[in-house]
Amino acid sequence: MDSIRVKGNGTLKGEIPIAGAKNACLTLMPATLLSEEPLTLTNAPRLSDIATMTQLLQSLGAEVSGLQDGQVIAMSSHGPINAVADYDIVRKMRASNLVLGPLLAREGHAVVSLPGGCAIGARPMDLHIHGLEALGAKIDLRDGYLHANAGKGLKGAGIELRMASVGATENIVMAATLAKGTTVLKNAAREPEIVDLVRCLRAMGAEIEGEGTETITIQGVDRLHGATHRVVADRIELGTYMLAPAIAGGEVELIGGRRDLVGSFSDKLEEAGIEVAETERGLRVARMNGQVRSVNVKTAVYPGFPTDLQAQMMALMCTADGVAELEETIFENRFMHAPELMRMGADIEVHGGMARVRGVKKLKGAPVMATDLRASVSLILAGLAAEGETVVSRVYHLDRGYEHVVAKLRGVGAQIERIKS
Ligand code: UD1
Repeated sequence: MDSIRVKGNGTLKGEIPIAGAKNACLTLMPATLLSEEPLTLTNAPRLSDIATMTQLLQSLGAEVSGLQDGQVIAMSSHGPINAVADYDIVRKMRASNLVLGPLLAREGHAVVSLPGGCAIGARPMDLHIHGLEALGAKIDLRDGYLHANAGKGLKGAGIELRMASVGATENIVMAATLAKGTTVLKNAAREPEIVDLVRCLRAMGAEIEGEGTETITIQGVDRLHGATHRVVADRIELGTYMLAPAIAGGEVELIGGRRDLVGSFSDKLEEAGIEVAETERGLRVARMNGQVRSVNVKTAVYPGFPTDLQAQMMALMCTADGVAELEETIFENRFMHAPELMRMGADIEVHGGMARVRGVKKLKGAPVMATDLRASVSLILAGLAAEGETVVSRVYHLDRGYEHVVAKLRGVGAQIERIKS
């Protein structure tokens, strides 16, 4: 297994291009199943999760090809569809469950493996099931698979989610585009990836209103057609690289970054004493001198502070002035980076969903282990400012969500390399 070696090497300067959003792409790709005509995505990120979704769609009978260095994904589902999503692929990536809604809408039936637990918590699918059942599907769990059937076709309905789940909102919206009549989805997730999905579905001929608000209304249509869609910028990659100059010092421009994608996160950085400014090409983030101030953070659904930036923010708080309280409200087990950061000299106490981080003067390089995608990048960020050498193992987690992480950080002066096993 490869690892990444990073050495604290002073301040950073330069620019980092921000890729298309992984999480948007993972819901846009299954949307190809809703039409027999081609769907083309531009600005797609080059990541192993995208390769996994490609493999899944191909196993269902869709044609998927990457063009021009993989940044364009061309898909077509004109042939017969095999509506079975196998455990061997689904277990690799929870987002595989996003084929359930489109398969049901297209084929009237689907068999999709339950993803199982993941490192950050149990992550059930009850909300997806509740929504699709309200649209008229019957769903049973047998042999670890969800067996869904909508013999008489899907019918629009009023649905209210118990929690504003991103994945459930995506599955329900996709299924409802081809249902008969109107669906009104309340307490829908408002994340930018949902807005991006709706923009793409609308380009395919869907009739949808209210994306980005708590209520999304979908008027079912008979068929969707092909489209070409540019994937929105990755706000989590953006936030992660905004933290690089915040932690190491210096000044970096994030090309393609948009403040509206990371509003509450940017507010917290500014509260901590980091400069964030909009530029013509993106966002400029700087910490020229002065110590970072400790700030309290509570994760929440969008537009709140994203859970996917909590681990990286903790890395910043490790050397901040004072005590920071980080509260995780979305996932029950998302502090696995804390013990690894403590191996680097951080002073952290975890009690349930709350972590208390007392800033220390300096972190010290150490061998550490990545436990999930965002945890792994938080260890790299910590390594940028640590004394000596940090070696992060199990970097396959990182390959799921960060393209060219080594090249991007080297481009702004970081001393970082990938060690092939
Ligand atoms: C998506 C993102 C993930 C991010 C998360 C929260 C993708 C591919 N992944 O994951 O990176 O961390 O949003 O912003 O877009 N829940 C239920 N029942 C359900 C569904 C969810 O109880 O049926 C719970 C989950 O266990 C979790 C919370 O709801 O505690 C939020 O999950 P959800 O918004 O569904 O996250 P994902 O769509 O899986």
